[in-house]
Amino acid sequence: MVVEIFDVKTGKTLPKKIEILAEEEKEDLLEEKHYMLKEILEQPKTIVKATEQEEQKLIDVALDMLRAKTVVFTACGTARYAAIIGRYLLSKVANKFSDVIMSHEFQYFSDSIDKDTLVIAVSQSGETADVLEGVEKAKEKGAKVIAITNVVGSSLARIADYTFYLNCGTEVAVASTKAFTGQLVVLYLLAFAAINKIKKCKDSVTEVAKKIEENIHQNDSVLKELAEKMKDKKDIYYLAKGIDFAIASEGALKLKELSYMHAEGMPAGELKHGTLSLIEEGTPIVAICPKDYTCKETLNNAQEAKSRGGFIIGVSDENNDLFDVWLKIPKVEEIYYPIVSVIPLQLLAYYTAVAKGNNPDKPRNLAKSVTVK
Ligand code: G6P
Repeated sequence: MVVEIFDVKTGKTLPKKIEILAEEEKEDLLEEKHYMLKEILEQPKTIVKATEQEEQKLIDVALDMLRAKTVVFTACGTARYAAIIGRYLLSKVANKFSDVIMSHEFQYFSDSIDKDTLVIAVSQSGETADVLEGVEKAKEKGAKVIAITNVVGSSLARIADYTFYLNCGTEVAVASTKAFTGQLVVLYLLAFAAINKIKKCKDSVTEVAKKIEENIHQNDSVLKELAEKMKDKKDIYYLAKGIDFAIASEGALKLKELSYMHAEGMPAGELKHGTLSLIEEGTPIVAICPKDYTCKETLNNAQEAKSRGGFIIGVSDENNDLFDVWLKIPKVEEIYYPIVSVIPLQLLAYYTAVAKGNNPDKPRNLAKSVTVK
């Protein structure tokens, strides 16, 4: 294909740099009924694809992260929950404190942004107006911008100093699934690049993907039965702690987007500071408690809800007497539990939407990419 750019007045060719972007892939549904289910089930492959990042770029950005006075993540919706996990990872793996600011609130912090700030913007589409506005403000103040995005050549990718693509293919369903786990993989790689362990991280992620592949259909009948129960509920709460906390919020967001139910995710320790008064006989509580450093305390908080009548749905690699329903996840290295824990929650949101007769690919009132302020 030959592309030339002309000046319409003079007819002369203009010396503009032409960038050919990869042709948009055609996404076929094949045997799945909905794009969302197809995209959930693709994750064992897309997680591995997301590890295909240029090593030198990871090292350069990791060094910038360590050198920066302040590291700030900015994102909206699902991408913000990925960023929150990124924040825990930076602290846990690289001992680097950072913060996460919702993009639409970013402008109110611009007074404290300067050339020693590193901004990491996470956005599947790279076109969310709030994200772009925040990033532009940061650039004006001299900050360096790193983009983690899926859409090649997106506005965010063009503004950023460095861009990491998720390589997970077009995401068609409005509710983000495979892009979320792809974002997590890039964030794991960046955190481990900071301690010079990229290869080890790639191997671990590949192992995690294998375990997901083996586990992805294990809960199908439990999930379908649970979705039938959930469809008549009005409220549901998701609890988790530490690095798993953002998975509670992401699980709740998925359910709320697709089933139109009120769902709230929170750090498990926060339950007793208010929400406990809302728990009554039969209120569903999803307790995300993989066998990691957060498990014991999350179980204690879930117990408090159970003794007020809560119906406990446990997401863990080990069953517990406390659980009324167990959503089994595979055992993985402790730090990688967020990647495996989110999968049954994506499926729960999907099956609940289907049980309610909603279209999971196109939830009412929502857009895949919000390009207006
Ligand atoms: C919209 C979508 C959400 C998405 C958010 C951020 O609100 O409905 O599913 O998480 O935008 O999108 P982005 O493309 O910036 O990741």
